[in-house]
Amino acid sequence: MGDLAGPPVISTAGLTKHYGTVHALTDLTVEVGAGVTGLVGANGAGKSTLIKILLGLLEPTSGRASVLGHDIEHDSHDIRRLVGYMPEHDCLPPDTSASDFVVHMARMSGLGASAARERAADVLRHVGLEEERYRPMGGYSTGMKQRAKLAQALVHDPRLVFLDEPTNGLDPAARTDMLRLVQRIGTDFGIAVLVTSHLLGELERVSDHVIVLDGGHLLRSSATGDFLRRTGRMLVEVVGTETERDRLGQALAQRGLTCRPRGTMVAIDPPASDVAVHDLVRDLAAELGLGLMRLEPDRGHLEDVFMEGAPRA
Ligand SMILES: Nc1ncnc2c1ncn2[C@@H]1O[C@H](COP(=O)(O)OP(=O)(O)O)[C@@H](O)[C@H]1O
Ligand SMILES: [Mg+2]
Repeated sequence: MGDLAGPPVISTAGLTKHYGTVHALTDLTVEVGAGVTGLVGANGAGKSTLIKILLGLLEPTSGRASVLGHDIEHDSHDIRRLVGYMPEHDCLPPDTSASDFVVHMARMSGLGASAARERAADVLRHVGLEEERYRPMGGYSTGMKQRAKLAQALVHDPRLVFLDEPTNGLDPAARTDMLRLVQRIGTDFGIAVLVTSHLLGELERVSDHVIVLDGGHLLRSSATGDFLRRTGRMLVEVVGTETERDRLGQALAQRGLTCRPRGTMVAIDPPASDVAVHDLVRDLAAELGLGLMRLEPDRGHLEDVFMEGAPRA
């Protein structure tokens, strides 16, 4: 989509950060464009360090970076005006309501009293904290706290937001909701997003572009579609249980295709000869009286990048 269209939103050159003997970031040169960019890597990979450097909260050991055309060394004031930040750790005063907190953050960014109240109410509604916004945040669930953190990052109408592990501590349903929100920030509001996760596969659905860090080094940076390159394999799922799955698998094997069960599905290797796998599956399913639930290319996953990448000690 908007991948690297126009000038980069973020650009780094040889960015390096040492904490004493710990090499948190090593010679990182990377560009981030418009849209949603996923920054993934295991715990300790350097994701939060990178964000803090870009915000001017930490000084790099060496290297340069710019955010929205502003140099991090000289213009961190401008950067913080244009950028929203959802920190990784809890930063919410427990005795304060989300409404008061977000209004306060809006006032801090320079909005007048009534504009701040209006803007806070809007943004709290967008993140789904309408009902609970007058309650003290100390009593919030993790999901509600994450939403309040997200709201304060958006309240001053930034052009770019850094979301550091927004799904941390959430159950699967809340995780999906949060990821949907992240995607909407990019698509509906046109705000560039840099979002981190230590769960490698989590961001592939919502990111236009993915940057992978490994032990402070850049492992890869590419459009999400390039990660999920076609493997040539097809995945088929039929209505029923393992019995139905295996009936289809055996019938495909009889026609000379190599296939194996994969969970509730059958994975079919690319055929050696010029067989139309799509048509064959459809015809066989009809012949066997099996209902087809899905038939799609097996696109692989982001985790595979790590399997392929040379593991470092
Ligand atoms: N203030 C600090 N002092 C010393 N080491 C730190 C500090 N902050 C982070 N580190 C170390 O730097 C590395 C990168 O950390 P971090 O940027 O927090 O990674 P991530 O956010 O990807 O989990 C880790 O080895 C971490 O232990
Ligand atoms: Mg972190």
